[in-house]
Amino acid sequence: MDVVRTVADLRRRLPLDAGPRGSCALVPTMGNLHEGHLDLVRVAKARGGRVAVSIFVNPLQFAPSEDFDRYPRTFEADLEKLGALGVDVVYAPTVAEMYPEPQTVRVVPPPALTDILEGAVRPGFFTGVATVVAKLFLMVRPAVAVFGKKDYQQLRVVEAMVRQLSMGVEIVGVETARADDGLALSSRNGYLTAAERAEAAALRRSLVSAAASLRAGESIGGVEADAAGALTGRGWHVDYVAVRRRSDLAEPQPGDPLVIVAAAKLGATRLIDNIEV
Ligand code: PAJ
Repeated sequence: MDVVRTVADLRRRLPLDAGPRGSCALVPTMGNLHEGHLDLVRVAKARGGRVAVSIFVNPLQFAPSEDFDRYPRTFEADLEKLGALGVDVVYAPTVAEMYPEPQTVRVVPPPALTDILEGAVRPGFFTGVATVVAKLFLMVRPAVAVFGKKDYQQLRVVEAMVRQLSMGVEIVGVETARADDGLALSSRNGYLTAAERAEAAALRRSLVSAAASLRAGESIGGVEADAAGALTGRGWHVDYVAVRRRSDLAEPQPGDPLVIVAAAKLGATRLIDNIEV
C-alpha cells in the first residue's frame, strides 16, 4: 500500500489503472476509520479495480465553533486497517498541500439542498464538502467514488455536483453500518459519555418507530412531531426530524419514495441518522 502525501506524488502514480482517466474507486474520508468507513472500502474493492482512500480532515467544512481541532486523528491505526483490506493508495495531504492558497474558488451546491436540514443548521458546510470532494476528484481522477448513506444529504449534494459539473464519476451509496444497539457508527460517537452512549441508540429507535407509523398511514406532520417530541422528552436537543423525498430531500409529493432524516444533540455531541421508508 502506497501512502501519498502530495499532489505531485499522486500524479506520478496516475492513472492507477489502465485507461486515460484511470479507473480506480475512491473512498473519501476524514480518517478515524471505523467499520462504516471499511464497508465503503469493501464495496470499492468488490468493483475489482484499484482502490484509493483519502484521509483529510477538511478545515473548509468546519465552522469556527465546530470540532476541527479536536476531531480524532488516528493515522497509524487507519493505515493498518486499510492495509489489511488491500487498499492500493492512501492519499493523505496536509492542509497546506490541499489549500496552498486561500480557497476562494469554491463549489457551491444547489441552494435547494444547502438551505435545508444540515445546510440550514451548518451554513457553509456543504460548500466546504463539495469543494474538497471536487478537488479530490480532480487530484485522484477516480472512475467511481463511494459514500455512506449515513450522511444522506451529503450523498445527494455530491450526486448533484457530479451531474451538474459533468464530472463523469460514478457515485455509489452504501448502507449505514451500526453498532449492535442500532447506533450509526460515527467518529463523533467517541465524544459521548458512557451514559450518553447508552441513550444514543434512542435516535435510531425513534426513526424505526417513525417509519412504522408512516407505513401504518399516520400523517407526515404527526410522525415528525411525535419523533421529535419523544427525543426532546428524553433530554435531546432536536435540530430536525423530517420526512422527505429520497431523491432530493424536498417536501414529498404523494407516491414519492421517502426517507426520514434526523439530527439531534445529546449533551455536547450532535448525532445524525436516517431511515428509508
Ligand atoms: P467522514 O465523516 O470521515 O465519512 C467518510 C465516509 O464514510 C462518508 O461517505 C460517510 O457517509 C461514510 N460513513 C460514515 N459513517 C458511516 C457509517 N456508519 N456507515 C456507512 N458509511 C459511513 O463524510 C466525510 O468524512 C467528509 O464530509 C468527506 C466526504 C470525506 C469530505 O471531507
